[in-house]
Amino acid sequence: MKLSLVVVLLVSVALGKPAPRSMRVLGRRDSPPSSYTLLGAASSDTQISLRIALAQSNPTGLEEALYDVSTPSSTNYGQHLTKEEAAQFVAPTSETRTAVTEWLEASGVNATTLTPAGDWLGFTISVSQANELFDADYSVFVHDTTGKQTIRTLSYSVPEELQGHITVVYPTTTFPTYKPRSPNSPAGAPLSQRVPRAESGAIDPSCANAITPSCLQAIYGIPTTPATQSSNRLGVAGYDDQWANTADLQTFLKTYRPDMSYNTTFSLQTLDGGTNNQTEADAGVEANLDIQYTVGLATDVPVIFISAGDDNHDGDLGGFLDMTELLLNEDSPPQVWTTSYGPNEDQVPIDLAYNLCNAYAQLGARGVSILFASGDGGVSGGWQATGCTDFVVAFPDGCPYMTNVGSTTGFDPEVGAWFSAGGFSNYWSRPAYQEAAVITYLAYLGDTYDGLYNASGRAYPDVATQGINFAIVADQQTELVDGTSCSSPTFASVISLLNDELASVGKPPLGFLNPWLYSIAAAAFNDITSGNNPGCNTTGFQAIVGWDPVTGLGTPNYELLRVAAGL
Ligand SMILES: *[C@@H]1O[C@H](CO)[C@@H](O)[C@H](O)[C@H]1NC(C)=O
Ligand SMILES: *[C@@H]1O[C@H](CO)[C@@H](O)[C@H](O)[C@H]1NC(C)=O
Ligand SMILES: *[C@@H]1O[C@H](CO)[C@@H](O)[C@H](O)[C@H]1NC(C)=O
Ligand SMILES: *[C@@H]1O[C@H](CO)[C@@H](O)[C@H](O)[C@H]1NC(C)=O
Ligand SMILES: *[C@@H]1O[C@H](CO)[C@@H](O)[C@H](O)[C@H]1NC(C)=O
Repeated sequence: MKLSLVVVLLVSVALGKPAPRSMRVLGRRDSPPSSYTLLGAASSDTQISLRIALAQSNPTGLEEALYDVSTPSSTNYGQHLTKEEAAQFVAPTSETRTAVTEWLEASGVNATTLTPAGDWLGFTISVSQANELFDADYSVFVHDTTGKQTIRTLSYSVPEELQGHITVVYPTTTFPTYKPRSPNSPAGAPLSQRVPRAESGAIDPSCANAITPSCLQAIYGIPTTPATQSSNRLGVAGYDDQWANTADLQTFLKTYRPDMSYNTTFSLQTLDGGTNNQTEADAGVEANLDIQYTVGLATDVPVIFISAGDDNHDGDLGGFLDMTELLLNEDSPPQVWTTSYGPNEDQVPIDLAYNLCNAYAQLGARGVSILFASGDGGVSGGWQATGCTDFVVAFPDGCPYMTNVGSTTGFDPEVGAWFSAGGFSNYWSRPAYQEAAVITYLAYLGDTYDGLYNASGRAYPDVATQGINFAIVADQQTELVDGTSCSSPTFASVISLLNDELASVGKPPLGFLNPWLYSIAAAAFNDITSGNNPGCNTTGFQAIVGWDPVTGLGTPNYELLRVAAGL
């Protein structure tokens, strides 16, 4: 996608001659986070990539349009928006564009628009230019455990007359904290060579020891028949130098999907300097898991591995926003997109969080189902923690415009997995689609955990699938892994297979799932009624009849979902 040039560089505007304009602080912190140490001023000629978020003109209109096309009872259900239609809601007003553009132009900055809507501008300038433009003091900070250096400022300002036009500038006062939902390998236990295989729908008893694609097919009734629609694609997000190995995938398919061609593979898309290094020893457990349980479960659905490198330009989202913008810029983004990485909500500045969530709303309005692993920390968020005083919310789980997938284990009965992250957002209030389901749970909860969670917040997860003892191949070794990282690719495969069937009869994809999930599809889930998700020195929430913040609505029953999808 070609970026359009919005500002021409005016070299003649000399730098170092600050116009006497009055500046207003837009972001400030007293000190860096405790995990960072100040090394000193950043060298003045170091080039840094900055981005500015312009005020969006009509985010409320976007939300209304999203629900209009995603709510089964709406007459416009399934009539997804085009790229341009979705972008128009978040496009800044011409007044905003002009004000910001003129300021940048007068400052000699060559900015490009990063999104179809034009709500983000990006540019690369020297530290000295950035210090002057934003009244900032860009410095080098070192992260205590990783030793990674990062350039940030503890304060920045914009001209007073641009207040209200500029929402935020990144990177400035927040620091990288992003972390993958690392799948856990219990003692790296190699799996015995026995291959669990279900005979015609029966669940093989070996599925109690190792989950394979055939176990999932048997437990959830997922079809083994190949998909047929090449326009229907499944995107798998890759971050953190996690690479998906094709030789491992081939071994996985030979072992666990002998009914498929072992040559079935995935395509690669990269951003921010991303790669997919095929050195066997560098195979990433997370990336292999995500690819093996999409290619190996969504039979013959075209899968794209979208690999983000470390060279991200979205400040502190580690590439989340960059990847979202990559997809926003496409005319036909993948209809399903699964991510098994994420920080915690309190680590992400609220304005950036809202901006990302609104970008998800745009993709949802265009017919994309956005799925995230809900996190592996139970009520302590993305990962296990005991020191917390309040329950921790995983990110972006609180965003109401995407779907969070928690974990279960066992099948007789199937119970909530102990690590399955669930809870209530502090950033987003409870959306209407889950009102009834969540109110019922809150009534059950009574005053238990009062003050530890935000009862008015968007509740998660939405759904769940198996998430313990998944057999994967990494570096040609079979091993078992656990985590909600297992569950999001599994659910993504289910939705992709439904989308394939829908496309084959000329129907639109399911798109943003939640209004459908919480209404006519709710009965298509196996209700999980036991299990709990400890954290923060508590036993966490309890799974009960109906929706709960451990397993959401429950686990999928493919045949019933087909009916709910009108197939
Ligand atoms: C401005 O930036 C764009 C994209 O980075 C680049 O193609 C263009 O040459 C630049 N223009 C000037 C005048 O520097
Ligand atoms: C897989 O690809 C190899 C090399 O192209 C080819 O020799 C083999 O026949 C293919 N196998 C299947 C099952 O398609
Ligand atoms: C892949 O990784 C290996 C080992 O880390 C390295 O030697 C090789 O140069 C990398 N290949 C590419 C194409 O980056
Ligand atoms: C609780 O969530 C609401 C949004 O639903 C938010 O406005 C409020 O600030 C949150 N409270 C706390 C203490 O974070
Ligand atoms: C955890 O809870 C137990 C009992 O509720 C209490 O005795 C203990 O001090 C708590 N530990 C921490 C670290 O808060």
